[in-house]
Amino acid sequence: MIPVNEPLLTGREMEFVEECVRTGWISSAGRFIEEFEAHWAAYCGMQHGIAVSNGTTALQIAVESLNLKPDDEVILPSFTIISCVLAVLYNEAVPVLVDVDPSTYCLDVAQLEARITPRTRAIMPVHIYGHPVDMDPVLAIAKRHGLVVIEDAAEAHGAEYLSGHDGPSPVWRRCGGLGDLSTFSFYANKLITTGEGGMVLTNDGTVAERLKSLRNLSFRSEQRFLHTELGHNFRLTNMQAAIGVAQVERIDEIVARKRWMGQRYTERLSGLPWLQLPTEMPWARSVYWMYGLVIHDDTGMDAVEFAQRLRAEGVDTRPFFLGMHEQPVLLNRGLFSGEQYPVSERISRQGLYLPSGLALTEGQMDHVCEAVRQVLS
Ligand SMILES: Cc1ncc(COP(=O)(O)O)c(C=O)c1O
Repeated sequence: MIPVNEPLLTGREMEFVEECVRTGWISSAGRFIEEFEAHWAAYCGMQHGIAVSNGTTALQIAVESLNLKPDDEVILPSFTIISCVLAVLYNEAVPVLVDVDPSTYCLDVAQLEARITPRTRAIMPVHIYGHPVDMDPVLAIAKRHGLVVIEDAAEAHGAEYLSGHDGPSPVWRRCGGLGDLSTFSFYANKLITTGEGGMVLTNDGTVAERLKSLRNLSFRSEQRFLHTELGHNFRLTNMQAAIGVAQVERIDEIVARKRWMGQRYTERLSGLPWLQLPTEMPWARSVYWMYGLVIHDDTGMDAVEFAQRLRAEGVDTRPFFLGMHEQPVLLNRGLFSGEQYPVSERISRQGLYLPSGLALTEGQMDHVCEAVRQVLS
């Protein structure tokens, strides 16, 4: 079976982890933590990185740093992982959904402003499957309404956005360097992995200090065991950061490989009339984190059946996210009752992603494409 993802740890990961073990720096202090934070923040064009235990806790403390009050609202896409909604709910605020764009599967910016109310405090755009959100209009709307933008870049390491693309001097900027705050996941299926791990990025030194305190039980620098705020243990270990530093050394190679893989899949699969392939907007350089296929309704096949038939051909896949407004746990809490987001609903039902990991060989990619062709013939 060709797996959806296998991590590729072919750089200095082992050497750096060995150093942690040899020197005894195995916990959450040590040189690799700071190096990882500094390297990743610089790569994304941000000043401060705060490494945490995973992408969900990164979102949680990013939202916490906004000091929201109950009933304050955060706008986010319906089509995303539950971590985004959890981060809002754990801060006792209210998640408000927007449907997604039918070609990028990212938050539909044309529908965004209509969701703003006097209680809106922040917008959380999510770069889905490695393709950037159209950030210019998001940032313009946020500025007009005095809102904070938390970019969830968990799936978009190294993806780039042509900032100012409708203006006179557009510039390519990396995802994770576009909002007020951004968050990453370094789970094993991500472009950069630390096994489990995450990071928040910001340009604001005061916010960075607060985030460092929140991840570490809110110890205070002046008097260690005096607490004035409820904190968390969201620390990353030096050993995980050691893997991260080795991974970041190879980021250009990783991004180039992922872009090549995405383009190769597109070349091989385009022309099949029943499929929607991932797009790449002219203002975007996608990293094709996961190569998604949306199968047309008129095939009479949904993603579950498509996945079963691919599995029979030796190809493993994963279903697309299920919209937040279709989650029993959220509906049971009285959230999103009666709300409908047609694009999100359709792609959840009809979408899956193909094996996309860095360890995938060309031969395996050919096998996957042949299997897709077979199933659809
Ligand atoms: C968009 C997005 N945000 C947040 C997360 C959460 O990251 P983690 O699994 O590291 O908690 C993920 C995980 O895949 C994700 O895809």
